[in-house]
Amino acid sequence: MRNAIRLLRNGSVREIRDVHPRTTLLDWLRLQERRTGTKEGCAEGDCGACTVALGRLVEGRLVYEPVNACILLVGQCDGADVVTVEDIAADGAPHPVQEAMVAHHGSQCGFCTPGIVMSLFTLYEEGERPVGRAAVNDALAGNLCRCTGYRPIVDAALDACAQPRDRRFETHREAAAAALAEIEADEADLILGDESRFFAAPASEESLAALLARHPDATIVAGATDVGLWITKALMEIEKIVWLGRVASLRTMRSTPETLTLGAMVSHADAHAALAAIDPDLGELMRRFGSVQVRASGTVGGNIANGSPIGDLPPALIALGATLELAGATGTRTLPLEDFFLAYREQDRQPGEYVRAVTVEKPRKHDVFRCYKVTKRFDEDISAVMGAFRVHLEGRRIVRARIAFGGMAATPKRAPHAETALAGLDLDDELAWAPALDALARDYRPMSDHRASADYRALVARNLLFKALAEIAGDEGLRIAPRSSGRAAAE
Ligand SMILES: Cc1cc2nc3c(=O)[nH]c(=O)nc-3n(C[C@H](O)[C@H](O)[C@H](O)COP(=O)(O)OP(=O)(O)OC[C@H]3O[C@@H](n4cnc5c(N)ncnc54)[C@H](O)[C@@H]3O)c2cc1C
Ligand code: FES
Ligand code: FES
Repeated sequence: MRNAIRLLRNGSVREIRDVHPRTTLLDWLRLQERRTGTKEGCAEGDCGACTVALGRLVEGRLVYEPVNACILLVGQCDGADVVTVEDIAADGAPHPVQEAMVAHHGSQCGFCTPGIVMSLFTLYEEGERPVGRAAVNDALAGNLCRCTGYRPIVDAALDACAQPRDRRFETHREAAAAALAEIEADEADLILGDESRFFAAPASEESLAALLARHPDATIVAGATDVGLWITKALMEIEKIVWLGRVASLRTMRSTPETLTLGAMVSHADAHAALAAIDPDLGELMRRFGSVQVRASGTVGGNIANGSPIGDLPPALIALGATLELAGATGTRTLPLEDFFLAYREQDRQPGEYVRAVTVEKPRKHDVFRCYKVTKRFDEDISAVMGAFRVHLEGRRIVRARIAFGGMAATPKRAPHAETALAGLDLDDELAWAPALDALARDYRPMSDHRASADYRALVARNLLFKALAEIAGDEGLRIAPRSSGRAAAE
């Protein structure tokens, strides 16, 4: 048992004991460390002003990712190297992305600049070269600048990343990797606090199950891209936190020719390539999931367990035919993913249980998959409607279909009436599609909220099903870009 968070700052291991379980990394940096270069804008993961880089060992290599320090708990940095905007100059010389930001006049009031620099720092240090405009736009999707405008910032990024990679950060990386290897070698459970108030990070599923059995009222934290907002925005007084980040078995991914299994703690960033390999639409869905920062922290399990009616992964996974695995002190059980969602924010999860993994069936021969996300803003926005379709064909005839929508009901939900109406349909007889399109009105009674009106949602869902059928029938003219290349091709 360990009773201190251990993280790395500027090459030295820091042991943190005296923090409240809900302390965010941003508060720790600014209020305790007095490192005020990292800013707070929105405190909800949207603006990127608080971006820092978090380095973790992945199969022996230290990999840096940008994260939103405002919604990340300091305890989640256990075992990581925390790099802020103050740390990246070497021997007084600014980092190449800082130099390029100055040269291209990429900063006016400067409030967004530390966050933008840190997003570009990780792009510079980790991005695949050559770095093109689409990659820069993706890297900056989670960073808002209100006054400079993005042209000089994007120019600075392109310019910095076009130069041969400056190796001065490598010295830091090598020392940090060695120090983190020592922290990682410790396989003890981490617990900070007492029985009534704690931050715990069990190191195995056995310890996790035992802890949750003893404290079924504890809040499970995966990436905290939802829970973080309960703390900073809803001001919830969460006293008991169980973070899953040290349970290695929850971070595994397994792919066979027929199935893909994602552990609950697989981040959206890590799941991206495996999902894109199943279908390009899934790749595009993941590329538009939040921002690079949100995808680095947010997890597959969190997106499911959260039970949001507008989460992006559940409809896509339900359409694919996913099975969910839950575990706890009394054992494990599996269920079809759609059965997990009972009612608004009510899931079939017993006290003490946790989501362990999700397994999807890859599309087989004669299966076609499509999914589309409709938002008010293209980047970094939550879906108004998200539709996913898996259709099994025999020649030009639909044999069966699985359809699931997000944003159309109190839970992610299948469309049984539309699915029945699609069976036996001739893809070449467009007039015969109408009953299936009409059936959606029986499957869903969407609500109006600040994202979209009920009428708009109903119309969008109908149009998305029509679009899927038209594409499957071969009308590629309906796409704004080829399926394999997403926005990069559109630009
Ligand atoms: C700026 C921003 C943009 C976003 N954009 C999107 C988007 O485009 N699409 C989208 O779908 N969502 C989006 N989200 C929401 C969020 O990122 C996702 O829901 C994410 O997948 C949550 O995962 P997490 O690991 O951060 O979960 P957490 O915040 O850690 O947890 C979420 C919930 O799940 C529970 N939980 C987590 N893991 C487990 C587990 N293994 N077992 C049991 N319970 C568990 C927690 O107790 C909590 O109730 C966005 C959020 C932000 C802040
Ligand atoms: S302060 Fe806006 S994303 Fe963190
Ligand atoms: S420089 Fe002012 S917000 Fe970007």
